[in-house]
Amino acid sequence: DWNMPDYVEEAIGRVRSEVGSDEVILGLSGGVDSSVVAALLHRAIGEQLTCVFVDNGLLRLNEAEQVMETFAKNLGVKVIHVDASTEFMKHLTGVTEPEQKRKIIGREFVEVFQRESAKLPNAKWLAQGTIYPDVIESAGAKTKKAHAIKSHHNVGGLPESLHLKLLEPLRELFKDEVRELGIALGLPHDMVYRHPFPGPGLGVRILGEVKQEYADLLRRADAIFIEELRASGWYEKTSQAFAVFLPVKSVGVMGDGRTYDYVVALRAVQTQDFMTAHWAELPYTLLGKVSNRIINEIRGINRVVYDISGKPPATIEWE
Ligand code: XMP
Repeated sequence: DWNMPDYVEEAIGRVRSEVGSDEVILGLSGGVDSSVVAALLHRAIGEQLTCVFVDNGLLRLNEAEQVMETFAKNLGVKVIHVDASTEFMKHLTGVTEPEQKRKIIGREFVEVFQRESAKLPNAKWLAQGTIYPDVIESAGAKTKKAHAIKSHHNVGGLPESLHLKLLEPLRELFKDEVRELGIALGLPHDMVYRHPFPGPGLGVRILGEVKQEYADLLRRADAIFIEELRASGWYEKTSQAFAVFLPVKSVGVMGDGRTYDYVVALRAVQTQDFMTAHWAELPYTLLGKVSNRIINEIRGINRVVYDISGKPPATIEWE
């Protein structure tokens, strides 16, 4: 039987005996797993931990600020905040193919991370938020369809190139146990119970070429959608929900004028394993409210559509 307070003490003890007085680097993304690792390691080894948070310019609205607030400000974790958005944007210019975008974003991440970790020459360990399902999945990755369809951005190559030892304190835990641990370590509920967010971020939610203008519009539309899902109690009833930017213009009316602006699609799914998924039957009133708010509050978007495709045959993300 599993007792959380005991488990926390045990996990802290294990980390301490494993790393001793060594320094540890962690790539903090703001997702559940790396956040829980950060909180655990901070508790276990305090100042010996340095987190690197890379802003690739493809994060959600206020995401960087929230991560810095939770970890650096509230918990007192050492976090290096790298704003690499210009660099990422530059490398994505003119690139439209989804897999190509994933590769570029993954490669840039490794490059930025390596550059930052070179500034921490005393570090001996690289911590990662690997959880038990990741361990199983990579053992059987060849047979998993999802992996054949989309190359998932991860940092698999990092420890080798950095010559660091790998520290994976969540390796034995299932997702719900990771969440429980996060709560026990004092992380905010909303951070621990977030929907998954892909490594390439908005890069695969802006169809085709990624542009700063598109990312800014999408961030705002997505924030409205998520805010309304939370307010209506639907966030917890969906497994993943987000807005997608369609770089297509359509005609609308606003006052006595005609508009010719972009389209945003809303996606919300329910799923157990993300291998298959149903589109969420959100109430029409909720969809209507989100649509009105997006169109009224964001100049540049004049049409909102709802994605009613299941997986399969559609994927959850649009790219
Ligand atoms: P799809 O779109 O394949 O997504 O139905 C299944 C789940 O995987 C996530 N996803 C990704 N996660 N890097 C990630 O870290 C990626 O490149 C990537 N592509 C899809 C997606 O958000 C969903 O949860």
